[in-house]
Amino acid sequence: MPRLETPRLLLRPLQASDVAVLVAIWADPDVTRYMGGPRDGEKVRQTLEDELRTHSTDRFGFCPVVEKASGRVIGDCGLTKKDVDGRAEIELVYVLAADSWGKGYATEAASALRDYALGRLKVPRLIALIDPENVSSARVAEKVGMQFEKAVVRPGGTLRHVYAMPGMAS
Ligand SMILES: CC(C)(COP(=O)(O)OP(=O)(O)OC[C@H]1O[C@@H](n2cnc3c(N)ncnc32)[C@H](O)[C@@H]1OP(=O)(O)O)[C@@H](O)C(=O)NCCC(=O)NCCS
Repeated sequence: MPRLETPRLLLRPLQASDVAVLVAIWADPDVTRYMGGPRDGEKVRQTLEDELRTHSTDRFGFCPVVEKASGRVIGDCGLTKKDVDGRAEIELVYVLAADSWGKGYATEAASALRDYALGRLKVPRLIALIDPENVSSARVAEKVGMQFEKAVVRPGGTLRHVYAMPGMAS
């Protein structure tokens, strides 16, 4: 992922000093409530450390979100490839530490990623996969221009709502 800048945020490549914060974010039951629950800290640490070692040049993936005013890492956002009902999709994902919710940050980060995906990467279609009870996430999807498209059952049996940019083939 490249560096993306918004008025209040910086989305930049992973650094070793981000690992502990990102492990804590992904282990938080409140943050992961609608995303399959807390992740195993050791596994997240391993994944992040592998990523640091390989210096991936993948144009998709996650990147830390830094609050410019404080310099703090407050989230992990990105674009990820996913199979949804047998179709290869690009999913827009936004995850913020709970103390940074309610400030419009997710919308700001998601807008930058949307512009990067549709503009520079020219992805044919961009979606968000959202737990039907995750009202604030659905609102963020709508604020960046997505609309509810359909409900899908994911492997493992969880229900998710697919939001997609209108005008992109469904
Ligand atoms: C979902 C999440 C990213 C939203 O982040 P955020 O920075 O608080 O989002 P924003 O401030 O940009 O926008 C949130 C919107 O939801 C609205 N909202 C929040 N809680 C709500 C509720 N209970 N009911 C209705 N609307 C709600 C806010 O009012 C705001 O909309 P508005 O600007 O029209 O008022 C954040 O809560 C998060 O990281 N949650 C955990 C991870 C997660 O679930 N990610 C999404 C995976 S699909």
